[in-house]
Amino acid sequence: MSARQLLAAILLVGGALAVAGPTAAERRGDDERGRVLFTSKECARCHKPRGERALGPPLEELRRRQGMLELAGRLWNHAPAMLGVLEWQKLEWPAISAPEMDDLMVYLQADPTRDPAPNLSAGQATLVRKGCLKCHRLRGEGGTHGIELTTYTGGYDSPVVWATGIWNHSPRMARQAAQIGVLYPRFTGEEMANLFGFLKSVAAPSP
Ligand code: HEC
Ligand code: HEC
Repeated sequence: MSARQLLAAILLVGGALAVAGPTAAERRGDDERGRVLFTSKECARCHKPRGERALGPPLEELRRRQGMLELAGRLWNHAPAMLGVLEWQKLEWPAISAPEMDDLMVYLQADPTRDPAPNLSAGQATLVRKGCLKCHRLRGEGGTHGIELTTYTGGYDSPVVWATGIWNHSPRMARQAAQIGVLYPRFTGEEMANLFGFLKSVAAPSP
């Protein structure tokens, strides 16, 4: 394991513990902290109130009642466009920890109770249709550019941890997709909830 991978693993486990661990049990995402993060993580640079000139869709389109996995899907979508703008403006991709993602998701009015109960067979179809297995493996079958999904260290218990993993890895995935000529997939509606539910149903139980 390289030093960078080791650091990433530590950050990931730390992030997971911060959400699931005992001290964090009382911690809930916070709307006000999320509002501050929306600016400090550069979101406000591209997402402004409707009517103001901005590169991304207006704040009102991001901030609406939605499921947490639905929002994770929307965050997934935005890697290619955001990468392009960031590279052009010579900015780094803003890294987000799990507790910060929790705050941001609350600020964007995401709530786990608004995600539907997953449809597992639709989730399995989504996994195949979105091309995840061109890069990842599921029980050993699939590509070698990404990880084996059944043993993903972030696990499939927390939509916050999932959204954090997606946020921090999507630039690498988008670049990889461009390199090997695979279409970077997009998610709408219930697709991410179904996919997440399917992956949870086939994954090794979290330690
Ligand atoms: C450099 C500009 C830029 C920054 C910074 C940026 N975004 Fe975006 N965002 C965009 C663009 C452009 C789109 C439209 C992408 C598309 O549809 O392909 C978008 C789309 C989105 C969407 C999806 C909207 C939808 O309906 O699918 C969400 C949610 C979102 N951004 C959240 C965020 C959050 C949260 C942050 C900060 C952590 C952030 N964005 C930072 C440019 C940016
Ligand atoms: C074009 C190749 C490619 C495709 C398609 C792709 N991924 Fe990835 N994925 C990667 C790579 C490469 C990484 C490692 C990124 C890194 O190290 O930062 C990764 C990382 C991840 C991670 C984070 C792993 C971690 O260590 O935290 C998850 C979760 C993930 N992918 C899920 C998916 C899902 C679900 C799909 C389909 C919707 C998908 N990926 C499609 C290449 C891909």
